[in-house]
Amino acid sequence: MSAARLVQVLAIAIFAAVVASDTCDGACPASAEIEHINPPSLFNGTDFGFAQIVTATNVRKKIWISGQTSQDTVPNVLGRTLDEQADGAIANVKRALEAVGATVDDIVHQQIFIANYNPDTDIPIVGKVTNAFKTSNGNFPSAELIGVQSLFTRELLIEIYTEAVLP
Ligand SMILES: *[C@@H]1O[C@H](CO)[C@@H](O)[C@H](O)[C@H]1NC(C)=O
Repeated sequence: MSAARLVQVLAIAIFAAVVASDTCDGACPASAEIEHINPPSLFNGTDFGFAQIVTATNVRKKIWISGQTSQDTVPNVLGRTLDEQADGAIANVKRALEAVGATVDDIVHQQIFIANYNPDTDIPIVGKVTNAFKTSNGNFPSAELIGVQSLFTRELLIEIYTEAVLP
């Protein structure tokens, strides 16, 4: 075999290997190795619906999902209360995950934005949102809760930003 032919064969083999690993040949692990850490030096976030630290290894694909609100595909705003819109925003985050072959178990980070956030009334809604993204192992993503003066329009009351990873 000539050197040029050898290079050609190797290139094809490497390309085939890359393509095979890209599709995982049916043997992809279910999730990248995501570790949820609540170190003893910080308070334990689990009871508050988040992990202080999340690390991920074996990451092949990183996913950034734009802030999801309670809107349909038109987009019309669905729901008039914070509670109703939380359900709509949660459902849209799950639709976005599904669109790229990910699940709640693949989420590493979230930000919850609430318009005119009022801790006296809104904490249970925050709990509903964080619980919706609890992993099958009972862990939560690292997260922030951010009260804002307004979202894109006055009708929108909650927006959820999500980052996920796939192996
Ligand atoms: C954090 O709290 C959760 C729930 O109370 C508990 O299961 C977990 O073991 C705690 N983690 C640490 C590191 O203490």
